[in-house]
Amino acid sequence: MKFLISNWKMNGDVEFAENFFEKINSVKTKNRIIVCPPFPLLYKFQNFAHSLGSQNCSAKTNGAFTGEVSPLLLKDFGCEYVIIGHSERRRMFKESDEIIFAKYNTLVELGITPIVCVGENEDEKSEWREVLLIQLHKFMNDGNLSKAIIAYEPVWSIGSGKTPTMDEIYKVLNFLKETTHFSCPTIYGGSVNINNIEDILKIPPVDGVLIGGASLRIAEFSKMIQSSSQI
Ligand code: 13P
Repeated sequence: MKFLISNWKMNGDVEFAENFFEKINSVKTKNRIIVCPPFPLLYKFQNFAHSLGSQNCSAKTNGAFTGEVSPLLLKDFGCEYVIIGHSERRRMFKESDEIIFAKYNTLVELGITPIVCVGENEDEKSEWREVLLIQLHKFMNDGNLSKAIIAYEPVWSIGSGKTPTMDEIYKVLNFLKETTHFSCPTIYGGSVNINNIEDILKIPPVDGVLIGGASLRIAEFSKMIQSSSQI
């Protein structure tokens, strides 16, 4: 079973969500499809045939945290997964490894699966091992990632149309599985589309993909689900 996770980022509106629901709801697959729309569109996914996730959450469950969204509320809305530590949040919203680890612990306590994103940026390409170990340091020292999905998303690949070679993806995901000893799924994200999804999903340590732009093209996403169904 592979994971196909659709991260809408800050895209989509009510009409788009209705269309997406209608087209994707009826697509059958043995793989796990997880859709992560913006918070206000979660209500459009009641009774969805696939799984629901969100793109972020607070590390707290309630209180005076203006503008934050409680993972408890996300659970009420049917979210079984939450993406945490996405590079856009690390970079633009200054989320630290400590904050991401706090979110992880809250989610695990609530029985929600965290999708923990890690990845190096363009300047760090040659030091990807060190970068990933720093991002996972807290998890390795103070806890574990056995309840998570780890998503490797090289920052330079996100939205750029550039992907690492299949061999590079193999090396990094294998490193995540072996070096860290986490018995959790490891997935790849960054410019995944209809042309490369099958090759990427066939790489042995790849348990799934995290898809941004291509999952917003509903017909393409539907084809991606179908073409990866046999893998
Ligand atoms: P793209 O698929 O648009 O490159 O985005 C990847 C991503 O950031 C998913 O979380």
